Amino acid sequence: MNQDQMKKQVAEAAIEYIEMGDVIGVGTGSTANYFIDALAKMKGKIDGTVASSQASAQRLQGHAIPVLELNEVGDLPLYVDGADEATRQLHLIKGGGGALTREKIVAGASERFVCIADSSKLVDVLGKFPLPIEVIPMARSFVARQLVKRGSLPELRDMFKTDNGNMILDVHNLEILQPTKMEAELNNISGVVTVGIFALRPADVLLLGTPSGVEKLG
Ligand code: 5RP
Repeated sequence: MNQDQMKKQVAEAAIEYIEMGDVIGVGTGSTANYFIDALAKMKGKIDGTVASSQASAQRLQGHAIPVLELNEVGDLPLYVDGADEATRQLHLIKGGGGALTREKIVAGASERFVCIADSSKLVDVLGKFPLPIEVIPMARSFVARQLVKRGSLPELRDMFKTDNGNMILDVHNLEILQPTKMEAELNNISGVVTVGIFALRPADVLLLGTPSGVEKLG
C-alpha cells in the first residue's frame, strides 16, 4: 500500500465518527481532501461543515456540501484533519499547507479532534518537520531574530500568503521535547499569530494508516 492509499484509508475510517445531523469541522491538505471526497458520498447525513481554509471550502462546495461560518454555528462535535507530524501523546505539528491558524481555531471549537495521517507522520519527538509559524508581515524579521536567539533556523516560506493575509516562517533545527511549553512560549512572541504545535489542544484520536490497516491511538 502506498502513502496515498494509506491516507485514503484513514480518511474513510474517520467517517465513522460522524453522527446524523452534525455540523463538522473539516481540515486542510491531501489527507483532508480524501476525507472531503468520502464525505461527499454521505453528505445527506450531515447538516453542514466549517472549513479550515479557502481551499477546503472550495472542495466541499464542489461536492455541493454546505460550508458554514464558525460564528454562525458555535461549537462543533467533531473536527477531522491531517498532520505533518504526530506523537503517541497525540501532540502534532501542523501547517505544512499554511492553514494552521484556522485549523487551530476550528480544533479549539470542537469537542473531538480526530487526526488522520499515514504512518510516516508518527514520530517520537516533534521537530524534524520544520515548524510552521504564521506571522504578521511587519513582524517577520523581528520574530525571525527571536527564533535565531533560541538556536533555530527560520526560513520565510517563499511566495506564500495565508488565507489571513500573513506570512509563514518554517523553523528548522527545533527539537520539541516539551510541546505544550514551547507552544505557549513561541505564541508569546509579539507578531506571532499561530504556532504549528498542537499540544495545548492536542488530537483526541489519531487514526494512522499503516500497510496492514488503520491503527487507532487515543
Ligand atoms: C495544513 C496541514 C495539513 O494537515 C498537513 O500539512 C498534512 O497535510 P497532508 O495531509 O497533505 O499530508 O496542517 O495546514
